[in-house]
Amino acid sequence: MLILGIETSCDETGVALFDTGEGLLAHALYSQVAMHADYGGVVPELASRDHVRKLLPLCDDVLAKASRTRQDIDGIAYTAGPGLVGALMVGGSVAHALGYALGVPVLGVHHMEGHLLAPMLEERPPAFPFIALLVSGGHTQLVKVDGIGEYQLLGESVDDAAGEAFDKTAKMLGLDYPGGPQVAKLAEQGTPGRFRFPRPMTDRPGLDFSFSGLKTYTLNTVNDAREAGELDDQTRADIANAFEAAVVDTLVIKCRRALEETGVRRLVMAGGVSANRRLRAALETMVAKHRAEVFYARPEFCTDNGAMIAYAGAQRLMAGQRDGDRILAVPRWPMDTLPPMNEPRREGLVSQK
Ligand code: KG4
Ligand code: ZN
Repeated sequence: MLILGIETSCDETGVALFDTGEGLLAHALYSQVAMHADYGGVVPELASRDHVRKLLPLCDDVLAKASRTRQDIDGIAYTAGPGLVGALMVGGSVAHALGYALGVPVLGVHHMEGHLLAPMLEERPPAFPFIALLVSGGHTQLVKVDGIGEYQLLGESVDDAAGEAFDKTAKMLGLDYPGGPQVAKLAEQGTPGRFRFPRPMTDRPGLDFSFSGLKTYTLNTVNDAREAGELDDQTRADIANAFEAAVVDTLVIKCRRALEETGVRRLVMAGGVSANRRLRAALETMVAKHRAEVFYARPEFCTDNGAMIAYAGAQRLMAGQRDGDRILAVPRWPMDTLPPMNEPRREGLVSQK
């Protein structure tokens, strides 16, 4: 089956072609980062309009790269949520229009399920069960994964997501949007240990996270340094370093706890923040000590992309799941309401509960 995958939940237009026999054939991404940078964050209406401009040319682009035509497509998967509703509507409308014209099934995919399954596209894919650390701009979750659609939420952030904390810290340090990669780059120049930031919620049992206190601590440190006339480049780098160390430590402590509590020995890390090199290195050190393994996608498939949606959609389309005639756009959508693979539901992926 040849599946066209479409991702338009936020500020990247991602398209890919995944063949269930041959694997990933082609993918293309257009990032709107430069357009939103002037505003310091994503402007939803501009995002939707730009997806309208870019989506069909990108579809033609991947078909050309894979030497296929629209008539070769056997199914279409698009991100149905969570995300910006206008942006989601663009992907859903194009997917349904193409599906109707070509007479092929269409399926709305959960964006975080896409992230979660992205490491399956790599040479050494993880086997089930595994513990997934989902760390993106909107989510920080630990999930026990027994199979596709078999998700047990172990813990999540009670306030800001890890990526959001990176983005807000970037703003405090005068760095451009999106902040995560910029904070990580600045942190490399920092002196470890000059500042020590708190590791929130690590001193009590449980697998939930909280990053808003860390954000306030960072803001106070920036303000104190500014008032003391010390907010030079080195101090900014030292603050970035201390912030990154605190986030990485916190995530590693909770991942270790999740492995210990469940007895599972495979850890998957997914979502934009999983591109962070310090986090990868720290998790590798931790799993080595616990005779466990860690898996993640290549950096370009950690952040938003069409390949992960094509892959996740292909698995569910193969199991017979598909949308009805409705275009799905679900801004908030808990992942544990998704049906498992062995219970194909004709009405699609949105829980009727
Ligand atoms: O998964 P993603 O592309 O979009 C969402 O679904 O949210 O994640 C984007 C988030 C942003 O907050 C961005 O700052 C963060 O991932 N991010 C990083 C890095 N690369 C992206 N955070 C820390 N270090 C990075 N290298
Ligand atoms: Zn994402």
